[in-house]
Amino acid sequence: MGPILFATLFAGLTLSSHLRRAYGNSSPPPPLRFTSNGTFQISVFEDLHFGENAWDTWGPQQDINTVKVMNQVLDAETQQLVVLNGDLITGENAYLENATVKIDQIVAPLLARGLTWASTYGNHDSQYNLSRHAILAREHRWPRHARTQQMVHGPDAGVSNYYLPVYPSTGNTDEPCLLLWFFDSRGGFHFQQRNASSGAHIGQPDWVDQSVVDWFEATNARLTAQYNRSSIPSLAFVHIPTNASQAAQMSPAGIDPRRQPGINDDAPNLAQQAQGWCEDGSNGPECVYGGQDAPFMRALASTKGLMAVFSGHDRGNTWCYKWDGVLLGMEVEGNGVNLCFGQHSGYGGYGNWGEGV
Ligand SMILES: *[C@@H]1O[C@H](CO)[C@@H](O)[C@H](O)[C@H]1NC(C)=O
Ligand SMILES: *[C@@H]1O[C@H](CO)[C@@H](O)[C@H](O)[C@H]1NC(C)=O
Ligand SMILES: *[C@@H]1O[C@H](CO)[C@@H](O)[C@H](O)[C@H]1NC(C)=O
Ligand SMILES: *[C@@H]1O[C@H](CO)[C@@H](O)[C@H](O)[C@H]1NC(C)=O
Ligand SMILES: *[C@@H]1O[C@H](CO)[C@@H](O)[C@H](O)[C@H]1NC(C)=O
Ligand SMILES: *[C@@H]1O[C@H](CO)[C@@H](O)[C@H](O)[C@H]1NC(C)=O
Repeated sequence: MGPILFATLFAGLTLSSHLRRAYGNSSPPPPLRFTSNGTFQISVFEDLHFGENAWDTWGPQQDINTVKVMNQVLDAETQQLVVLNGDLITGENAYLENATVKIDQIVAPLLARGLTWASTYGNHDSQYNLSRHAILAREHRWPRHARTQQMVHGPDAGVSNYYLPVYPSTGNTDEPCLLLWFFDSRGGFHFQQRNASSGAHIGQPDWVDQSVVDWFEATNARLTAQYNRSSIPSLAFVHIPTNASQAAQMSPAGIDPRRQPGINDDAPNLAQQAQGWCEDGSNGPECVYGGQDAPFMRALASTKGLMAVFSGHDRGNTWCYKWDGVLLGMEVEGNGVNLCFGQHSGYGGYGNWGEGV
């Protein structure tokens, strides 16, 4: 009797949780919390670049290899959150009718472990056949697991701009002790838009928009006031680094492997926000760097409590640089925030550096 009753109960539980999944328990994921050990671990994947050359065998095989990297890392670590820091898909190769189907393959290793994730979108996530809005909608097929949001709705804001509070495990458990900021550095090309005369795809600016900077500063001020704090410790994620990272690399001391460990192969001048644009907002072949990321850099450098900014994009760089003071040629003064690159995680995209997280 005992085992049969147990089996029946178990089948009932499995069925009801299965039904909940299938028929929409659409409540958001539970709040993020530090562990009882006082830790909060984040695994940051970036430049996954799924979906290259679906019509060849090497493209799909590359994605299978990337899933293996994800599985190995997720098993080795004890993360409370996974961040997908841009270029999830190589949108140039996407078909209009199923452009976001690769999201299912990306999130499967996370769903299998009951993990939740938060994305920023990169330049390859906006292409003629692929839109950021479509990726967000696809992620939200798993509303209990996807934490990606759009909190700024202007026409030039991009999509993946939002913050996530992280709460302590004990003590005042209703007050965030860490904020995670996610910014959309845009780039790539506008969805289904062509130049009427030339037929060319239309480029999307590749920096964090002023409207997002304004939202960031106002929201951070509101939160610190709400909790009566002079600052709240925070981390930021954005796919394309700012010019400050290039200025660090170009500074006389440069990136020193003893003080800034990691590879520095996208050198001497790494690709930064506003690359390929002119100051007047045009993006002809003569444009190198338009400087439109200056407001975002100023906001990062003046946000108290911001400990580090994590970027991808430059897949040949994995160092962190503590931005303190004025870097050669720059006006914006760093306040000690760490500018970090992660390890590129996908087999797609340029370069053959080891995949990792
Ligand atoms: C806390 O740390 C111990 C020892 O390292 C580990 O076994 C345990 O899994 C950790 N707990 C959490 C919730 O991370
Ligand atoms: C976009 O999708 C359409 C429909 O699948 C396809 O014919 C086309 O080659 C794709 N790529 C571009 C750049 O238009
Ligand atoms: C996406 O659509 C293309 C063209 O219709 C097709 O060849 C391809 O197999 C589809 N990809 C997936 C993963 O379903
Ligand atoms: C469209 O292309 C033409 C010819 O290359 C160019 O002169 C024009 O500025 C383009 N228009 C837009 C809106 O990009
Ligand atoms: C805010 O914090 C300050 C300094 O810690 C304290 O003096 C003040 O009473 C607090 N205000 C409120 C409304 O809790
Ligand atoms: C961008 O960085 C370069 C160093 O690579 C520096 O010379 C230039 O002044 C910087 N510009 C801005 C607007 O930060």
